[in-house]
Amino acid sequence: MSGLEDVVACDSSICRIAVEDGRGILEYRGYDIHDLAKNSSYEEVAYLLLFGDLPSKRELEKFKEELAMQRSLPAQIIGLLTHLPPFTHPMVVLRTATSYLGSMDKYIHYKSHEMSIEKSISLIAKFPTVVAYFHRIRSGQNLVHPREDLDHAANFLYMLHGEEPTETMAKCLDLDMILHAEHELNASTFAARIAASTLADIYASIVAATGTLLGPLHGGASQKVMEMLREIAVPWRAESYVREKLEKGERIMGFGHRVYRRVMDPRTLELKSLAKRLAEERNPKWYEISEAVEEAVYKYKGLLPNVDFYSASVYATLGIPDDLYVNIFAIGRISGWCAHVIEQYENNRLIRPRANYIGPERRGYIPFDERP
Ligand code: ACO
Repeated sequence: MSGLEDVVACDSSICRIAVEDGRGILEYRGYDIHDLAKNSSYEEVAYLLLFGDLPSKRELEKFKEELAMQRSLPAQIIGLLTHLPPFTHPMVVLRTATSYLGSMDKYIHYKSHEMSIEKSISLIAKFPTVVAYFHRIRSGQNLVHPREDLDHAANFLYMLHGEEPTETMAKCLDLDMILHAEHELNASTFAARIAASTLADIYASIVAATGTLLGPLHGGASQKVMEMLREIAVPWRAESYVREKLEKGERIMGFGHRVYRRVMDPRTLELKSLAKRLAEERNPKWYEISEAVEEAVYKYKGLLPNVDFYSASVYATLGIPDDLYVNIFAIGRISGWCAHVIEQYENNRLIRPRANYIGPERRGYIPFDERP
């Protein structure tokens, strides 16, 4: 009951997660995550999540074109990004910009399937631009505008770094975004569905989700993982670091999962091999420390890494600043959030659970001047 563990809160046809035969299972609309990771692209997965089926070649081309055309930000949003204090956490920026985008949508309260899909495509397209623009503004660099000829992941790296990524870098981020696109009723998606269940607009639902994702027990963990890897600095220091933290009763970020208990998160398997590939090609440092931490946490606590653990070393190797890690998660997860909001609208009943009251028993009111 605590933390709603194992409580089933709704029916959904978007994502299945399970533990079967000692293995973690993750499927988007019936497709195994390993098949999607091997064969698809982020755009294809976003289409699958929004529309329920894999696109035909023509449908995918059209969807990619729509995404590419929607990447630009209105001048007011760019103004907002320049006015926010540069120390604002980029995830706070993203949720503020989402709210502002809502205020600029004349049809904000329209919830037909077609309108919700249109708004979703716009949000999926604009999230990377908001993140890249804010990062360049806060670091005093010129804006690099989106390019329609680049795929979703490649375009984000291009806008962030100001140069076209290598094929490997773009492929790595694309895969990372596929792995982060959806994960059933995790805390941020549940927050989005609760907001949608009141028939609040889609922007309000996504603001609720972005706010919830930032917490270090959820998407904020990968930034904390990187802080830990930097503190450890060399692989041989990992074991004593982990032991001391656990002896003090502290948590090791990037380990443990509510659903994949004692089995490997299937996304971690993919991310670990991605991190290894990047390490071999670019820089082995963060991967080697990560592996040493993984061994030590398993030795002293029997816990396995979750999706946030190896994503930290992947992002560091891609040259992404630490405080953008959770934004990268959001850039991937936005398609899953939108799919859930649409599903909630289409078969809605207000989500309103009960609390088990444990406060004082009924007591008489004491007038103010009779109190000590
Ligand atoms: N480090 C050390 N101990 C841990 C960790 C950890 N990362 N995670 C769980 N434990 C321990 C707890 O201390 C507890 O031990 P005890 O029984 O000896 O007291 C036991 O494992 C169960 O922990 P719970 O908190 O009940 O597990 P819960 O399912 O509530 O929490 C969570 C899941 C939040 C992910 C937890 O494992 C955690 O805090 N991990 C670190 C943060 C993190 O990596 N978050 C990202 C999750 S993935 C995602 O959101 C995308």
